[in-house]
Amino acid sequence: MGTIVLGTGSCLPEKRLTNDDLEKMVDTNDEWIATRTGIKERRIAGKGEEAYILATRAAEKALAQAGISAQDIDIIVVATISSHMIMPSCACFVQKELGAANAFAYDINAACSGFLYAFDLADQYVKADHNKKVLVIGAETLSARVNWEDRNTCILFGDGAGAAVLAYSDSDRGIMASNLQSDGSLWNLLYMHGPQSTNKDLQDKNNHGSHILMEGREVFKYAVKAMEGSVRDVLERAAVDVKDIKLVIPHQANIRILNKLLERLQVDEEAVFINVQKYGNTSAASIPIALDEAFQAGKISKGDMVLFCSFGGGFTWGASLITW
Ligand SMILES: CC(C)(COP(=O)(O)OP(=O)(O)OC[C@H]1O[C@@H](n2cnc3c(N)ncnc32)[C@H](O)[C@@H]1OP(=O)(O)O)[C@@H](O)C(=O)NCCC(=O)NCCS
Repeated sequence: MGTIVLGTGSCLPEKRLTNDDLEKMVDTNDEWIATRTGIKERRIAGKGEEAYILATRAAEKALAQAGISAQDIDIIVVATISSHMIMPSCACFVQKELGAANAFAYDINAACSGFLYAFDLADQYVKADHNKKVLVIGAETLSARVNWEDRNTCILFGDGAGAAVLAYSDSDRGIMASNLQSDGSLWNLLYMHGPQSTNKDLQDKNNHGSHILMEGREVFKYAVKAMEGSVRDVLERAAVDVKDIKLVIPHQANIRILNKLLERLQVDEEAVFINVQKYGNTSAASIPIALDEAFQAGKISKGDMVLFCSFGGGFTWGASLITW
């Protein structure tokens, strides 16, 4: 008995930006990017592809797969750090686009861990009221939030959205355990300023623009350790052996982070879903996009145990285990 996923969907912008394209923009090359990150190309939003539009398209597919209408949704939670406006939330724009008149909607910010935070929120709503149906979305247009002259960061990120509809099932399926953590004292290793304050007293002379700044090496080190801890915690609490996991769907940050993590956890290569080569790091959107692709590819069936794990700015991190 628990919270299950009724349907998934994803939406990627049309435009591809390859490593070769990036070579013409900053001092980098395909070999450097591919060996250090595993990324070959990423998608970049064009006109009419704001985060809420990508989110809406992903949500429409998830609703269709779930066999329910937008009016059946009670809550919309969008995880994002790159909506086109600060207010209203991305989720309110999605509500408007979908015509989900019976829902309340809000965004959460947990950077790349946002989808897992939203997934856990949805689980709590559903556990508290078995009639609730929650639309959980990760949506990003990080192309609008990177400094395209900074080769340390602009090569890493991409745009996209993924969605899942969560609801109660009285079967023996559902979310088994989740672990969410954060450490705000490490905020300055990966961050993004907002717009400069209009209140002179609150103006920050270090605010050089609203784009991502990162200490890559430090992020790498913490990411592996932190995700390993969260995964071990959910496995232990659910009394599940890692060998029994059908598919691990990690946040698609970087192939080297993932390889290190999977080596430490002793997960077999074929039990991991990886698409970072096609989309780069799409932050909060990466897990739901990968989940949708894995499901569409027939890699997950009813009764399979699926494990998610993530790491991002904050720092925030976590893991979640579900019997599909
Ligand atoms: C970003 C990352 C790929 C950089 O790899 P790294 O091996 O740590 O590389 P460094 O930052 O130490 O830089 C090594 C050299 O490559 C250079 N370099 C940095 N970016 C480059 C690029 N895009 N192309 C070519 N050279 C680059 C650096 O300037 C440095 O040169 P130097 O030795 O002359 O000073 C790696 O640190 C990483 O994966 N970090 C995690 C990032 C992440 O996933 N963030 C999101 C988490 S949600």
